[in-house]
Amino acid sequence: MLSVLLMVVLGAITYCYLRRHYSYWSRKGITGPRPIFLLGNIAPSITGKKSVGDIVTEIYNEYKGNPIVGFYRTVTPCLLVRDLNLIKDITVKDFKHFENNDIHIERKSDRIFGSHPFCLKGNEWKNCRKELTHSFTSGKMKLIFPMLEENGQKMVKSICSTTVNEISVLEAKKLCSKFTLENVNACAFGMDSQCFRKTEPMDMRMAYGLVKTGSWGVYKYFLSTIIPRIHKVLNIRIVNSTYGNELLHMIHAFMSYRVKSGVVRNDFLDSMVQLKENAPSNGFDILALGANFFVDGYETSSTVMALLLFELAMHKEVQNKLRSEIRQSKELSGGKLSCEVVQSMRYLDACFNENLRVHSIVSTLGKTCTKSYTYHLKHRNTSVVIEKGTPIIIPISAIHHDPQYFENPIHFCPERFLEKKTLQKYTFMPFGEGPRSCLGKRFGVLQIKVGVIDIISNFELSVNEKTELPLKYNPWFFVVAPTKGIWINAKKILE
Ligand code: HEM
Repeated sequence: MLSVLLMVVLGAITYCYLRRHYSYWSRKGITGPRPIFLLGNIAPSITGKKSVGDIVTEIYNEYKGNPIVGFYRTVTPCLLVRDLNLIKDITVKDFKHFENNDIHIERKSDRIFGSHPFCLKGNEWKNCRKELTHSFTSGKMKLIFPMLEENGQKMVKSICSTTVNEISVLEAKKLCSKFTLENVNACAFGMDSQCFRKTEPMDMRMAYGLVKTGSWGVYKYFLSTIIPRIHKVLNIRIVNSTYGNELLHMIHAFMSYRVKSGVVRNDFLDSMVQLKENAPSNGFDILALGANFFVDGYETSSTVMALLLFELAMHKEVQNKLRSEIRQSKELSGGKLSCEVVQSMRYLDACFNENLRVHSIVSTLGKTCTKSYTYHLKHRNTSVVIEKGTPIIIPISAIHHDPQYFENPIHFCPERFLEKKTLQKYTFMPFGEGPRSCLGKRFGVLQIKVGVIDIISNFELSVNEKTELPLKYNPWFFVVAPTKGIWINAKKILE
């Protein structure tokens, strides 16, 4: 009897506590959707019905006219930012109040992803970012350019070798993964992974296995976003441990070989070797940083490139216009490509950007308020204090699809990026903005553009009927990932 009474009292206390807790935003005068008890506003993502990105987009669309919206990730109050000026202040102007990303991965549980600059916090992040920045300068891009070109040629040859009646059927993500994996190995580690020669290269098997996160892994990750303090107990891993260890061994072998051989290539591996000499003082996990370069360099870029090939295959007129630009630029440069020639292709850049707008590879950016911040609500002439620790959600995909900023947003139309003047600042942020924006942007953009130039110069693309339309994305994946393959017909262009 006593225990039943105790449970009733405890239940009542929890209920009252949560009721008050769920009034966190309304007490601050901030509007938002009504939370479900214990689940908050993200219930469909817990069952895998929708991704968190989809839910954020729904809230964004529902609360038009509000600069900020309060919602609950189960019991955690989160702030969704709709005001572009506030996005600028959070990512750039008042960055010191929002230095950390809203992610909690322990290095003890996941040595690789836990050491990723994206997960590092405070001074550790600052020091690491400073060291890695040297590897992505425009000078470094010029150095690696010939390797990207060589791998592009290998990719074209590999497609030609599968041609039947002038047509090859490709799965775009697989093809692009081979290309980006060859690039990462060549540009960062000075290795030839022979992805185009072997049917199932070891590196490819490992690369695929590394980022395959099961639903249990994602649940644990969710829990850590809900109650950040329990991430230590949950032993959360994003990178698969078996493949992760294999990768760490591989990076170790690359580094030992470089030290023993005395070869100097002025590449990422050389920077890592130099950094290792100072490792005891700087505390970086060099092997893990190398492993992260491997994953970053190949994974997102291959998805973005595959989606761009898909859009070009869907839109013949865009494809033809792009092919003309490539031909003209090559003619003007005497048939020789360089970083400058690639950068001069305006239509290619427009296609690249439009692809990232339509398929926002990272649908939301999560920041943490690291120092309390006062925001002035102009429309009500009042101020609200964003408390330290509050997760801040920047709805990238929702903004990219807002008709207020992009007319007919679901339409793939590169032309809209040719008139940059009409583009409002902070409405297009596929790489984030400010000091914490994507470190590998230059490398990612360059390798994708070189790959697309090679394919479009040599093949006419169309979508194969095996592709399920519209493309569906995996709700369990951290970045946009089509669930079924992207199948494309490539018809060789005869000179
Ligand atoms: C087209 C391909 C890519 C896209 C769309 C992309 C997008 C992003 C985004 C949205 C962020 C988060 C930015 C923020 O928090 O504000 C990010 C962070 C990061 N990206 Fe990329 N990325 C790409 C390719 C790459 C490549 C090729 C590399 C390296 C080889 C790379 C390395 C990183 C790193 C290290 C960070 C963490 C930066 C920090 O927190 O200081 N990315 N990326």
